[in-house]
Amino acid sequence: MTLSIPFVDLKAQYAAIRDQVEPAMAEVLESAHFVGGPVVERFEREFAEFCGAAFAVSVANGTDAISMALRAAEIGPGDEVLVPANSFFASAEAVSNIGATPVFVDVEARTFLMDPASAAAAITPRTRAILPVHLFGRALDMRPFVKLAAAHGLTIVEDCAQAHGAVISGETVGSSGRLTCYSFYPGKNLGAYGDGGAITTNNPQLRQRLLELRDHGSPRKYEHARVGYNSRLDALQAAVLSVKLRCLADWNAARRRHAETYAAGLEGLPILPPDIPPAGEHVFHLFVVRLACRDPLQKFLASRGIATGIHYPTPLHLTEAYQRLGAPGPGSCPVAEALSAEILSLPMYAELTAKQLRYTTETIREFLHTNPVEAPPGEGALHSVA
Ligand SMILES: Cc1ncc(COP(=O)(O)O)c(C=O)c1O
Repeated sequence: MTLSIPFVDLKAQYAAIRDQVEPAMAEVLESAHFVGGPVVERFEREFAEFCGAAFAVSVANGTDAISMALRAAEIGPGDEVLVPANSFFASAEAVSNIGATPVFVDVEARTFLMDPASAAAAITPRTRAILPVHLFGRALDMRPFVKLAAAHGLTIVEDCAQAHGAVISGETVGSSGRLTCYSFYPGKNLGAYGDGGAITTNNPQLRQRLLELRDHGSPRKYEHARVGYNSRLDALQAAVLSVKLRCLADWNAARRRHAETYAAGLEGLPILPPDIPPAGEHVFHLFVVRLACRDPLQKFLASRGIATGIHYPTPLHLTEAYQRLGAPGPGSCPVAEALSAEILSLPMYAELTAKQLRYTTETIREFLHTNPVEAPPGEGALHSVA
């Protein structure tokens, strides 16, 4: 029997929360307060509390969140910002959009996250900031980056677009007081019904700067202290996000249980599942496996109704956009480059059923039995992470 398993299933999620979402949206429609206002402010307070931060400033999307956080920290033209080569394009784009230059650094083979040694090696006299990305839902150990930043006088802005609620060393990402940026794109662990984003901080001056930047650089109506953005969260999205925030801890726990089920189902196969760190450190926005025969497996899974993704097929420095801008070529971030050919993201969301999880791992098992991998999971992959 063939099942059809989408990569993300927002319809299943909506069915589970419809009773709460619809009245919350109706309240906004009746209030006719659509941009900013009490519903947005309430969500900002709730989200700050969830993250353990003093403040959350909501904005229109995660890309703007990063650009504005960097601007608030007075990063701009001529400055270099260290960005991991394996991330979504927006991590680098947000740097370029403020006139600064992303400098790409390699990632670690086991975690797929920014490698502190590569970051240290990429520092130049123009480096002003580091943008660590808590990719795939996994909280990055910030200690080496904090040391590096202190030693070189750098600002840290964290990209937490994929890791709402992830914890590291007992602390929720975003509770450190550093500028931490979130996306509420619909498929994220906490997603709106459209675009949305936020920045958390413990610093009241930075908060004030962000409030102005998101609203045309305006401290008071029709006064404009600097050129900013039109980048505000609308109240309908805030209403949805408040409802979903109440479910987030349970959803993250479900994702983690699914990750454990996947890992157990893949045991003994020539495929490398993600490392599962202690509870809470990984909120499994994505479940990314590594294997030598990625492309044929992906095709086979598609033929059996299982949607998968690749995050990401091209490391950022090798994208056409950054090659045009003179980024270093192949060989400059070897781990990210190797990963891009071998990683595969399996369906991951709280509503996945035991049957769907089993069907996916059994289908992978079937493929690997009928297509023995010559260089197992790959020899290369496992080898390089030993
Ligand atoms: C790692 C990362 N950074 C930044 C972004 C940008 O967020 P948005 O799409 O809300 O602009 C995303 C998400 O799309 C992301 O995954």
